[in-house]
Amino acid sequence: MNDPYFQQLFAERIGGAGHGKGTEIYKFEKIKRAKRKALAEHPERQLIDFGIGENDEMAAAPVRRVMAEEINRPENRGYSDNGIAEFREAVARFMQREFHVELDPRREINHCIGTKTALAMLPAAFINPGDVTLMTVPGYPVAGTHTKYYGGEVYPLALRAEKGFLPDLAAIPAEVLRRAKLLVLNYPNSPTGRTATREFYVRVIEFARRHELVVVQDAAHLMLTYHEPPLSFLQVPGGSDVGVEVHSLSKGWNMIGWRMGWVCGHERLVRAFADVKDNCDSGQFMAIQKAAAAALDDPDIPRQTRRKYLRRLEKLVIALRRSGFECRVPGGTYFLYTPSPKGVAGGPRFETAEAASQYLIAEQSISTVPWDDAGAYLRLSVTYVAPDEAAEDALMAQTEQRLRQIRLEF
Ligand SMILES: Cc1ncc(COP(=O)(O)O)c(C=O)c1O
Repeated sequence: MNDPYFQQLFAERIGGAGHGKGTEIYKFEKIKRAKRKALAEHPERQLIDFGIGENDEMAAAPVRRVMAEEINRPENRGYSDNGIAEFREAVARFMQREFHVELDPRREINHCIGTKTALAMLPAAFINPGDVTLMTVPGYPVAGTHTKYYGGEVYPLALRAEKGFLPDLAAIPAEVLRRAKLLVLNYPNSPTGRTATREFYVRVIEFARRHELVVVQDAAHLMLTYHEPPLSFLQVPGGSDVGVEVHSLSKGWNMIGWRMGWVCGHERLVRAFADVKDNCDSGQFMAIQKAAAAALDDPDIPRQTRRKYLRRLEKLVIALRRSGFECRVPGGTYFLYTPSPKGVAGGPRFETAEAASQYLIAEQSISTVPWDDAGAYLRLSVTYVAPDEAAEDALMAQTEQRLRQIRLEF
């Protein structure tokens, strides 16, 4: 097929004239293909899917009831621009109830249509060509992608087990720090499952002040914190002087597809975000904002979500440890991030986590997500579909049986 004339017109940021012609397959597409192949080649074997990063349950019934009522109200039909007061006020109540953080709902909170969009928009408020965004790796790449769209650079901060999966701020070169404007953090961290400590945030705040950085703390998984109460960056004195926190209803409230979250923190930073957002979208559907407000007012919803995923993580850790993995229940998120096996007794060796992941899906129909950015790790999500605890137990027994059969080496 001849190229259309506009093939030459694509911007360099999406590959220029080569856009759509690459043969590189992205990690998540590879996983999908491998799953389809395993299902086709082994229809008799149940696929055990630890690869999905989405909640397996619908939003709570009372939230869906509010939605059902609000959808029929004519006053909800229009553009909501930067959001309605009911949602902002519910966020303020939530932040006060859970973290004792006082926020002015009009000036220090702004909704977003999912935090992915907020992370995509925030670089627009800061990044000029040549500016730097400091970002933890492995991680959620969206803020980095948009930093590059604006001509900025991303400086990766590797999260390694020996440093407790916290970034080594002291190792950032002075030349990079001079150009750095944003420090993007994500705790509880995806995929490592590490949670932040107060001491770490104190250091971050001091570092941000000293080097004049804006901190963007991605709290998408915050309500899935297991061993201690969830910790907001804004709870730590000085947090709201140096940054914003981005919250999501996706994970903790089983509202992945509803697309609701918010940005909160320093008034000027929230305003800058709102200015960019106002030029990108016209606000989430008001019925959804009202249902989300009802969700925030119900402290039981995130507690139940947390209980369920903690229970599943505990069961998975037992099954994996019995199969040779060195792992323990993470501090947060619904992911288990564990060193990848190096090979199979009497069988192949794995140079990368990707090779191990491909072997597990091909040989045992077990789907995982490999991470090779800072060491070789597999990420297993406990968002698999299982209707009750007996089904969870049966799935864990299957997992253990299949893994023991192949005699992994670490
Ligand atoms: C670390 C992290 N941040 C942000 C998001 C985006 O969440 P949402 O756009 O659903 O709020 C995700 C989703 O997987 C995530 O894992």
